[in-house]
Amino acid sequence: MSSFLKDKTSFTTDAPNASDTSTRSGALLDAVPDPVLAIAADTFDVVYANPAALRLFEWNRSANRSLADLGLGPEEIRLRTVLSSSDHTRREIQVARDAKLYRIDCQLLSTAGTADDDQVILTIWSPAADIDRNRRDHEFVATVSHELRTPVTSIKGALGLVLSGASGPVADKTRALLDIAHRNAGRLLLLVNDILDIEKLTSGNMSFDKDLLDLVAVLDAAHDATASFAHQFEVRIEVEAPKGPVMATIDGARIHQVLTNLISNACKFSHPGGVVTLSLDDSDPEKVRICVDDTGVGIPQSALHTIFDRFNQAQSGHRNRTGSTGLGLAIVKTIVEAHGGTISLDSVEGQGTRACFTLSRPAPE
Ligand SMILES: Nc1ncnc2c1ncn2[C@@H]1O[C@H](COP(=O)(O)OP(=O)(O)O)[C@@H](O)[C@H]1O
Ligand SMILES: [Mg+2]
Repeated sequence: MSSFLKDKTSFTTDAPNASDTSTRSGALLDAVPDPVLAIAADTFDVVYANPAALRLFEWNRSANRSLADLGLGPEEIRLRTVLSSSDHTRREIQVARDAKLYRIDCQLLSTAGTADDDQVILTIWSPAADIDRNRRDHEFVATVSHELRTPVTSIKGALGLVLSGASGPVADKTRALLDIAHRNAGRLLLLVNDILDIEKLTSGNMSFDKDLLDLVAVLDAAHDATASFAHQFEVRIEVEAPKGPVMATIDGARIHQVLTNLISNACKFSHPGGVVTLSLDDSDPEKVRICVDDTGVGIPQSALHTIFDRFNQAQSGHRNRTGSTGLGLAIVKTIVEAHGGTISLDSVEGQGTRACFTLSRPAPE
């Protein structure tokens, strides 16, 4: 353990040596009104709980406690997955406990040493909202978006028909106006579909239909589906994948959605003439790593840590505003995590971006 947390007793309020830094840190955390738990990154043992956390979990003391003692039921697996992902140093997750929803801010801290087992995850719990209210909100948004989808689809379809000349010749001035209406109906449809997806994913109402599938074929299909989109941006997509099948248990349609989202981002933010590379690495027997690389405008460092949040867009005034909702990456992340995988985004402004996600592989027979 790090020096900060080495002496577990130094976190209790009755620790004697107040001049000791760890005692002072502990006393400070003791005073935080929100429940705070420090969890060992290697064993998931609870190494510290402040008084608010002791009250929440109804513990007398934190000694010999682990994630299993948090009373989370099946939600524990989700929390465990988030805590195990080392790709991010700071993450937020919502979990339900005792009919209440908590937002947990998780931060990986490396303190004195540099070895893995010197790392602790500091988790701060705050009540999110009561679950019933949350469910009603979800249902409302889902219903409204669903009801909007049909009329917007027919508006877009009708405008497309008129523009194609199906109802007679269209005067140039009228065409310009119809073009605007058609483009914006498309944009609205995209937004409605994305909101519907986000609601289904975050309320747990999206079902995943998983099968043992060949990821190389899934990659090829995503390449074919995005080729004409890439062409619009004068970008070429290249696939680098092993020849043979690489099997994984996935919901093919949802992983297709992940890939097309990442590829469309890579195309949208590339310069004309750019190449987007879609690659698959199967050298790890436990997980497959799939990456989408571009040499486009990149993402400013300051925007990277919130890039997976909903409605987040890093570049204002980019050449393609119409195909954007700022929901794509939030959807992608939720789908990848629902498959037990992790996703990360690295970027250098002005040079390009790399988005990678992992999917676990079935154990050999
Ligand atoms: N490959 C990329 N290159 C540069 N910026 C990117 C890339 N991928 C995502 N971004 C940034 O992240 C934001 C959020 O992406 P996303 O959630 O897919 O929303 P959208 O594509 O609808 O804008 C984008 O608006 C853009 O600012
Ligand atoms: Mg996108």
